[in-house]
Amino acid sequence: MKVLVLNGPNLGRLDLRDSNVYGDMNFAALSAYIIEEGKKLDLECDVRQSDSEVEIIGWLHEAADQKLPVIINPAAFTHYSYAIRDAADMVKSILIEVHLSNPLSREEFRHTSVISGVADGTIGGFGPDSYRLALIALRKMLSK
Ligand code: DQA
Repeated sequence: MKVLVLNGPNLGRLDLRDSNVYGDMNFAALSAYIIEEGKKLDLECDVRQSDSEVEIIGWLHEAADQKLPVIINPAAFTHYSYAIRDAADMVKSILIEVHLSNPLSREEFRHTSVISGVADGTIGGFGPDSYRLALIALRKMLSK
């Protein structure tokens, strides 16, 4: 089963971000980790990253059209992109929101997610393991 693992702005530059918040894995290593963890669960992860809202919306349309499950870290778009929310709402397969950090323990503007309301669930605060936990949850939901 193919899964789209979508990542929003600045996640492609994880190695340059605050390592106290985001750890020390760069995006290439994170992608490889997600792909490996997916394989263990018989999930084929197509990991993508974009700084462009338009491109992410296009990928969500693709998931909606092809009925693909999605794991998405919308990054800063989490907090204000109604356009991504509306696109995520069209995904009728499973959609799980993930975050490396725990946005609720950070600045107040990060306490709002406009995506959570259209996601099946949200996992944050576990670093790269947030993606692994999302894959496990997805696998269970698909087997139901
Ligand atoms: C993030 C949290 C967001 O608040 C932030 O803008 C990001 C990354 C996370 O994975 O912890 O870019 O989504």
